[in-house]
Amino acid sequence: MFPVKFLLVAAAALFQGARAQGDLSDTNNITSLQGTWSSNSHVETGGTFCNPANYSFTYPATTGISYSFTDTGFFEEAQYRFTSNATNPTCITAYILWQHGKYQLNDNGSMTLYPFPSDGRIQVQDPCAAVTNLITEYNQQTLYADWGITMDSTRKNYKMQLNRFDGAKMPPMWLMANPPNMLPTQYLTGVNASGQAA
Ligand SMILES: *[C@@H]1O[C@H](CO)[C@@H](O)[C@H](O)[C@H]1NC(C)=O
Ligand SMILES: *[C@@H]1O[C@H](CO)[C@@H](O)[C@H](O)[C@H]1NC(C)=O
Ligand SMILES: *[C@@H]1O[C@H](CO)[C@@H](O)[C@H](O)[C@H]1NC(C)=O
Ligand SMILES: *[C@@H]1O[C@H](CO)[C@@H](O)[C@H](O)[C@H]1NC(C)=O
Ligand SMILES: *[C@@H]1O[C@H](CO)[C@@H](O)[C@H](O)[C@H]1NC(C)=O
Repeated sequence: MFPVKFLLVAAAALFQGARAQGDLSDTNNITSLQGTWSSNSHVETGGTFCNPANYSFTYPATTGISYSFTDTGFFEEAQYRFTSNATNPTCITAYILWQHGKYQLNDNGSMTLYPFPSDGRIQVQDPCAAVTNLITEYNQQTLYADWGITMDSTRKNYKMQLNRFDGAKMPPMWLMANPPNMLPTQYLTGVNASGQAA
């Protein structure tokens, strides 16, 4: 299969304005969250990455992650990643997932994603599992303990870092588009909170 490889940031890269955890003060908020952010240009939200209505993904050329946000409280998430297995190195699991919904910036500096439950999709390819390759629903409310936007002086672009509640750092992402590329910010399948079909 493919090597586990994410975009590496050049060690020499210098970053300005590093943000302390939970610090949302003006000096550290150098730009709005709004936009499409990606670890590399092959993976982007919106477009054809996922079609939740017919349970299909269009696989990007390389692995990566992408998030979009609007200033009105909506998000979209697209991930295509490999995880290796320390016990069994030949069991490299690939997963591709997509979800969208609303996000909230919490008082303690964290961010919570609240997906529209019926729209998220995931496909897992595990060469060592009995059943693999199915595309199923995915609804993962997610807490990022810390996030920040800095200026990457090497790339001359904004860089976003999301850090999960368990301390794991997500791959860094750069601003790709603003306004963001997103599928419609509403329920696309199933029924919404007022019980109406999409
Ligand atoms: C960050 O700045 C943007 C643009 O000025 C503003 O819309 C947004 O509310 C700010 N966010 C925070 C958390 O201060
Ligand atoms: C799902 O729908 C899209 C858009 O109509 C189409 O391009 C794609 O081929 C469909 N995929 C499957 C697996 O049906
Ligand atoms: C790693 O591989 C072992 C043996 O195939 C399996 O039992 C285990 O569930 C795998 N772990 C993960 C995290 O996939
Ligand atoms: C920060 O706030 C969120 C939302 O209220 C909460 O879920 C999370 O546990 C809090 N984190 C810490 C470290 O208190
Ligand atoms: C539910 O969907 C209907 C039809 O698309 C829409 O008019 C309504 O505003 C939606 N309600 C909520 C709470 O999203």
